[in-house]
Amino acid sequence: MIGPVVHAEGLKRSKKNSIVYVGEDKLIGEIVQIQGNKTIIQVYEKTSGLGIGEPIQDLNRPLSLKLGPGLLGNIIDGVQRQLKGSGYLFIEKGMSGNPLPIKKQWHFIPEYENIKEIEIGEKFAELKYNTIEVKSKDKLNGGEILGYVQETDAIKHYILNPPNRQGVIKEINEGKFTIEDPIGHYTDGNPIMLYHYWSVRIPRPFQQRVIDTQPFITGQRVLDFLYPIIDGGTAMIPGGFGTGKTILEQTLAKFSSAHIAILTLCGERGNEIADVLAEFKQLNDPLTGKPMSERSIIIANTSNMPVAAREASIYSGMTLAEYFRDMGYKVAVTADSTSRWAEALREVSVRLEEVPGEKGYPSYLPKLIGRFYERAGKVKAQSNRIGSVTVIGAVSPPGGDFSDPISQYTLRYANALWGLDVNLARQRHYPAINFEISFTQYLNEILAYWDKYPDIGGNWRESRKVIVKILKDEEEIEKIVRLIGKDTLTEPQLGTLAAAELIRDGFLRQSAFSDIDGYCPIKKTYEMALTLQMTYEWITSAIRSGHTTKEIFEKEKSIFERVNRMKELENLKQISEIRNIVAEKLEAYRKRKA
Ligand SMILES: Nc1ncnc2c1ncn2[C@@H]1O[C@H](COP(=O)(O)OP(=O)(O)OP(=O)(O)O)[C@@H](O)[C@H]1O
Ligand SMILES: [Mg+2]
Repeated sequence: MIGPVVHAEGLKRSKKNSIVYVGEDKLIGEIVQIQGNKTIIQVYEKTSGLGIGEPIQDLNRPLSLKLGPGLLGNIIDGVQRQLKGSGYLFIEKGMSGNPLPIKKQWHFIPEYENIKEIEIGEKFAELKYNTIEVKSKDKLNGGEILGYVQETDAIKHYILNPPNRQGVIKEINEGKFTIEDPIGHYTDGNPIMLYHYWSVRIPRPFQQRVIDTQPFITGQRVLDFLYPIIDGGTAMIPGGFGTGKTILEQTLAKFSSAHIAILTLCGERGNEIADVLAEFKQLNDPLTGKPMSERSIIIANTSNMPVAAREASIYSGMTLAEYFRDMGYKVAVTADSTSRWAEALREVSVRLEEVPGEKGYPSYLPKLIGRFYERAGKVKAQSNRIGSVTVIGAVSPPGGDFSDPISQYTLRYANALWGLDVNLARQRHYPAINFEISFTQYLNEILAYWDKYPDIGGNWRESRKVIVKILKDEEEIEKIVRLIGKDTLTEPQLGTLAAAELIRDGFLRQSAFSDIDGYCPIKKTYEMALTLQMTYEWITSAIRSGHTTKEIFEKEKSIFERVNRMKELENLKQISEIRNIVAEKLEAYRKRKA
């Protein structure tokens, strides 16, 4: 035994990636190498107390999750063991307990003939969901929907025929069932169950990828407006120590337009996980009004838990996401942090005596990162429904240096980058998104999408252009200030600085802890941006008419204050009132000029 790596002898006909129980305590392990008569096993928990000569039992199946009702609201480790405790979280040794509750009864309603639209919470109505009707038939294909149980108030848990199972239904019943009771039978006599197993390392099959752009709305203005992503897209959040990765990931899990949130917490602090847990149990979900735990699952491997299960946690999170995607839901997967996950891989790789690559990470690491992000996407599932998995991975490079291997490998696969900045975080400007390095490859797609909704985003392109230009100009002007001071600046430059300050403070800054501003509806983001664009035009017109920036800001102090505090308004009418005042001011200058 070398740490979590165990060498075994005499396992016959075992296969790579098969799951085994190790020792009297049934520690969970996975076969990672087979060399003749010798089998090398990676154990997913602490091996202390394990002795030479203890038995090993081969389960003859790969690391899999038990997928069925009872998943929502769970907090599990990378191999689907329930975490115990409330303050200090821990897992019991070995495979004690069940991945899903076995006594609980679920009311199953067969509904494979008539599939309705998925609707939860009225805010979801912002984006209408596509569902395709399935014709009545008794022959089932893999992945088809058999019916549902109302797992939580917010979510119907659709029961899927296992992806690789075909058959003809002999009978299927409505009624109350536990997870181990058959809900019906196939004509071949086999039972139809509420659950099935799926291997975490194998992507779940689907019919085809779907190109049908819909924005993945985050409720964070800086992201939705400047660096938006699509449903089924990928984004990475690199950020140094304490820059706000965890808060941002959790805010996205809570507020994004996804129906289901899967939070993968790898290697982060145990108390943080306990906090999220407590919050998610209490917090009334902004989208459904029910506790957040009703539509989320947390997979946790804290820094004090064994590293090997951390390695599995990322795949487990993805598998859960794909499972709900296959029911037709939009799922968001957050991973915090993929750097800690890569460190777990490195540790295991060293113990397996593999040849190390860059910075000691295994040479196959980039491929694994790729495989993770490539499982994101919007698909037409085997169930005939359209579902999506959006992936947002935090990266915590040592010393905040983004040239580290994990940031660089991730950059190859993530289509958007939301970079967090130490300086902005220090100024308590949150979310601390850095404008120099952040980008999104989905911009054109999203702009084209909003073109179709003029009342929500009619002027989006233009407002965004203006606001980005102000921020860029500000950067240049700041460079001059650093070189030769503020005295030499022209009035238009001072005006730009003042406008940029308004944009940063009044628009981009958004506290995750504010009741009103924690989530910003897309229409409000747009209304605010338009108002800021007009405010800037007003400032420049006034300067052109000979006023100084200082004069304008002193004279119209109360208006600027109102512009700066638009984010605190819930009623959009109040924002358009402010905009009308600004518009009047602007108009007055325009008339004067004419
Ligand atoms: N969006 C936000 N709104 C308000 N405060 C924030 C926000 N983001 C971060 N903060 C503040 O910054 C602190 C650190 O944030 P967080 O724990 O998310 O950083 P991190 O990048 O995950 O740190 P670590 O590197 O230790 O994992 C928070 O406790 C909070 O006070
Ligand atoms: Mg963190």
